[in-house]
Amino acid sequence: MALNRQSLQVGRDPIEHASIDELRSLQLTRLKATLQHAFDNSPAYRAKFIEAGVTPADLTSLEDLAKFPFTTKQDLRQHYPFGFFAKPMEEIVRVHASSGTTGQPTVVGYTQNDINTWSDVVARSIYAAGGRPNDKVHIAYGYGLFTGGLGAHYGAERLGCTVIPMSGGQTDKQVKLIRDFDPDIIMVTPSYMLNILDCMDKHGIDPQTLALRCGIFGAEPWTGSMRKNIEKRAGIDAVDIYGLSEVMGPGVAQECVESKDGPIVWEDHFYPEIINPETGEVVEDGEYGELVFTSLTKEAMPVIRYRTRDLTRLLSPTSRSMRRIDKITGRSDDMLIIRGVNVFPSQIEEQLLSVEGLSPHYVLELEKKGNMDQLTVKVEPSGDQSLSTAAARQLQRNIKNLIGISSQVVLVEPESIPRSQGKACRVMDLR
Ligand code: DLL
Repeated sequence: MALNRQSLQVGRDPIEHASIDELRSLQLTRLKATLQHAFDNSPAYRAKFIEAGVTPADLTSLEDLAKFPFTTKQDLRQHYPFGFFAKPMEEIVRVHASSGTTGQPTVVGYTQNDINTWSDVVARSIYAAGGRPNDKVHIAYGYGLFTGGLGAHYGAERLGCTVIPMSGGQTDKQVKLIRDFDPDIIMVTPSYMLNILDCMDKHGIDPQTLALRCGIFGAEPWTGSMRKNIEKRAGIDAVDIYGLSEVMGPGVAQECVESKDGPIVWEDHFYPEIINPETGEVVEDGEYGELVFTSLTKEAMPVIRYRTRDLTRLLSPTSRSMRRIDKITGRSDDMLIIRGVNVFPSQIEEQLLSVEGLSPHYVLELEKKGNMDQLTVKVEPSGDQSLSTAAARQLQRNIKNLIGISSQVVLVEPESIPRSQGKACRVMDLR
């Protein structure tokens, strides 16, 4: 059943439509309490504040937050596993951890109140995506230490939905359950959604004939072109959910279906700043930089000025009273330097999907040829071979003209690119 577009414009929680004054005043009250809590109860934060020569009393306005030190992934790793907890272990009801490609995982903890807050923000997120009580929600984010599965699960239950806790993997079974249970909403990484859609094709299932009306996609960067591609193929609305385990998990920010103009930061719980990643200076709204979060209500593990390494900008409020983030271009660590030019994989994806005849399955391979970096874009064709050959040439030209790097675009056998089961890995840097 199609939802009334007008009714979508009202959020689940009154605070989503609060006045700016009301919101800023709530943030200031909560921020003061959070700094005090961190200082009093987390030895790691107390030490950091003392070293930086600040105390919670130094904050009398939201702008004063800039006086406080940043928290990095490195800090959390140094205090592995529980050193940043600000509540005794008896009050911690759950831990999650992010794997990280190198070194120690980062561990995060939650009190019962934290789990409640998280469930509320995810419920609010699903609602903003157009979900309503009684909808069936198929969750294909992984369950386990990763926050995706359980975070989505508790939020969907909180909203009053029927949850199908499928987790990631077993793609044939995913497709069977989607066909048999007819969910209204799917929550999954965009790259795994592509895999599920391919599997539907293989089984002769037309996604357009299913009840599915919305996909809530996140946990990895994805472009506006990927949104169009998935929406067209699946006949659904595709919206963006953002989050990270250190700050909470999914549901730190959520795009609403009526405007699809970037995830709204749930600013009553998470205070965003954008900084210049080199100098650490806070930049104006609208300027690009690194996203930094301070939690406003977390008990077990408050985070003060956590550097996400995600690059984006803050945009003014539209459908809700809270600011939005622009689509994440990538993480600072994902940036490729190819012959001196800074490139994000998402820029190449944007070009790749705007050319007809290429599939969204690709990898970027980087090698050194002599002293020179060589970028090869390996992509599977979609449909007609003659169209794809021309498309590959066109893509090579667009990458040169619009991004400024020479590359080789190579068409590879259909189904030869490894498929994602969660977060996609699309870069092979062999340099
Ligand atoms: O990926 C939490 C999550 C689960 C978000 C499910 C959304 C849906 P981590 O494993 O800690 O947590 O990874 C966090 O993933 O810093 C971003 O780099 C990236 N990321 C998450 N959501 C998005 C998004 C989860 N919508 C890291 N767009 C973050 C772009 C995203 N990148």
